[in-house]
Amino acid sequence: NNYIIIMAGGVGSRFWPMSTEEKPKQFLDVLGIGKSLLQQTVARFKTIAPAENILIVTSAKYKDLVTEQCPELLESNILLEPCMRNTAPCIAYAAYKIKGLNPNANIVVAPSDHLITNEGEFIRIIENGLEFTSSKDALLTLGIQPHRPETGYGYIQASINVKASTQIGTEGESYETMPASEEKEGVCKVEAFKEKPNLETAKEYLAAGNYFWNSGIFLWSLKSILDAFESCLPEVAELFQKGAEVYNTEKEQAFINDMFPTCTNISIDYGVMEKASNIFVHPADFGWSDLGTWGSLWEKREKCEQGNTVVGEQVHLFEADNCIVNMPTNKKVVIQGLQDYIVVEENDVLLICKKEEEQRIKEFRAAVIK
Ligand code: GDD
Ligand code: MG
Repeated sequence: NNYIIIMAGGVGSRFWPMSTEEKPKQFLDVLGIGKSLLQQTVARFKTIAPAENILIVTSAKYKDLVTEQCPELLESNILLEPCMRNTAPCIAYAAYKIKGLNPNANIVVAPSDHLITNEGEFIRIIENGLEFTSSKDALLTLGIQPHRPETGYGYIQASINVKASTQIGTEGESYETMPASEEKEGVCKVEAFKEKPNLETAKEYLAAGNYFWNSGIFLWSLKSILDAFESCLPEVAELFQKGAEVYNTEKEQAFINDMFPTCTNISIDYGVMEKASNIFVHPADFGWSDLGTWGSLWEKREKCEQGNTVVGEQVHLFEADNCIVNMPTNKKVVIQGLQDYIVVEENDVLLICKKEEEQRIKEFRAAVIK
């Protein structure tokens, strides 16, 4: 009964100029390991669900990229959106389609562009979470212990003081030391979900101790998510319900092409997670990284003594510290005196930006791509 919905229609604009609209981040081998982030994501779920139960939702323009990178998936499992409407419509589409395949489905929704280093622990937590959601009307998210006041994430307020209890455990099993509740091991009720708070609020959350980052990985039964759409985003639910007769038939794509542009543009986080009252969190520690920005890639990459990480054969650094330099063009480059900078040349664009200003890369990209 396990189904996986992989969301792969974003443009990864904070990873510009490596990530472009033609080939966004999820289709790139960001870490240089021979597999794109999407391919790594699909591979991670192979023991959780058979290939015929793995669905990828993406933009119609990425159809060829997805089929090329994921040849093991059924063509009918690649769901194509005619335009971007953010993650709530993306998930609603897949959920209403799955309803026609298996009304008792238990679902995992995952982004296609994250890094997870401890796969064994990832699978253990997903299996644990699926057991919880299969028998309870719950919207479960996997929560990550925050370590900086990141404003690009959703924050989950758990109903117990997580910080106090997690400090007891050793890394990797810390959630098991949480006070026992009537819920399944490790799972706790969520008091509130706040998507992308401002810096001041994020600092307060970090200091409070009982907040998690939302990993963006969600688990729920088909019934629970359909109920949530009906109560939190009724106009979205109504649109997708209209297709009940055509999902999994030849008429599906025409219906979607016609209806999708009229759908509300909203993320699942703002549209459902902030509004629903049956939200739960499973604390998770499996080497998660959003790899959302150059700074997060800098954190993950191997660095020299000065804290620099360089891609490019002919890059020479003098008195430079904590920089990430990406010059796969193999241009001869000399950098002197830069501290905490991003220097990237990709796709005919040269970007030089302070790491602390990287949330503005979206804005810089918009100025260049008119
Ligand atoms: N099919 C489809 N259509 N996929 C989309 C769309 C869309 O319109 N928009 C985004 N996606 C995909 C992205 O490719 C990514 O894999 C995933 O959905 C999440 O979208 P992002 O745009 O990357 O969201 P975010 O990073 O700003 O925020 C989310 O993830 C954070 C953790 O990484 C939220 O869930 C936050 O609460 C969370 O903390
Ligand atoms: Mg993201």
